[in-house]
Amino acid sequence: MAEILYGVATSHVPAIGAAIDGGKEDTPYWKPLFEGYEGARKWMADADPDVLILAYNDHANAFDLDLIPTFAIGVADQFPIADEGYGPRLVPPVVGHPELAWHLVESLILDEFDMTICNHMPVDHGLTVPLSILYGQPERWPAKVIPLAVNVVQFPPPTGRRCYALGQAIRRAVETYPDDEELKIAVLGTGGMSNQLQGERAAFINTPFDTDYLNRLADDAEGLTEITHTELLRDAGSEGIELVMWLIMRGAISKDVREVHRHYHVPASNTAAGLIIFEGTEALVPT
Ligand code: DHB
Ligand code: FE
Repeated sequence: MAEILYGVATSHVPAIGAAIDGGKEDTPYWKPLFEGYEGARKWMADADPDVLILAYNDHANAFDLDLIPTFAIGVADQFPIADEGYGPRLVPPVVGHPELAWHLVESLILDEFDMTICNHMPVDHGLTVPLSILYGQPERWPAKVIPLAVNVVQFPPPTGRRCYALGQAIRRAVETYPDDEELKIAVLGTGGMSNQLQGERAAFINTPFDTDYLNRLADDAEGLTEITHTELLRDAGSEGIELVMWLIMRGAISKDVREVHRHYHVPASNTAAGLIIFEGTEALVPT
């Protein structure tokens, strides 16, 4: 039986990955950020999910402007680490779960979500930095990963409402996974929070907006789905649109959730870094 038990949302700032790779977690600039990740790493080691369904955006590494899938799901055995211009990060290969991924593809498409199917998909910092945040530097990633790439780079990205509905469809899909294998699943939404990398407002930070988003994610996610792209652009910056991917995570876990960890820190590179972890309460009811 496969079950979605956990939801994690986290920023995926590449400089965080570089700090981990370069052994800089204890330097004065990075220490306050990484101290806040300690609880998340402990929680992750205890929860020990078997599979991560990880919503992230590709930053013109697997896809470029020639090909822009709105929602793309990786069904391969393994996903190579993308070369983002400085050579690929020296992190372990990302191992997939083709059986569950193909089940998701079938269920989601028949549920009217037109997924792009990827047999080959190099994965960039959007996917690998969250793994490093949650696991540090292991020899192998402890969980298998199903990459779910979302276009938030080229306008128009999917709406928050569509992302939330996709999360709910992922939950329905997992509930019908026929395999006997016991699978504890975590769904991850990545990117954001305040995030503007370009133009006159580069390094724009809006902590009140970010805090409100974190506060509402557990009990007012439907309200968050009403935020328009223009409002996200105004309030969270041009790359703050990545926050729609957090709603895939929220749609996929149970209606009632328990927040088990939160961390928010500014600055990480030119952006804010947020992290929040939920446990689905339905799965915690004693049997
Ligand atoms: C940066 C890049 C990202 O993709 C992101 O989500 C946040 C920050 C950066 O280049 O600093
Ligand atoms: Fe990003």
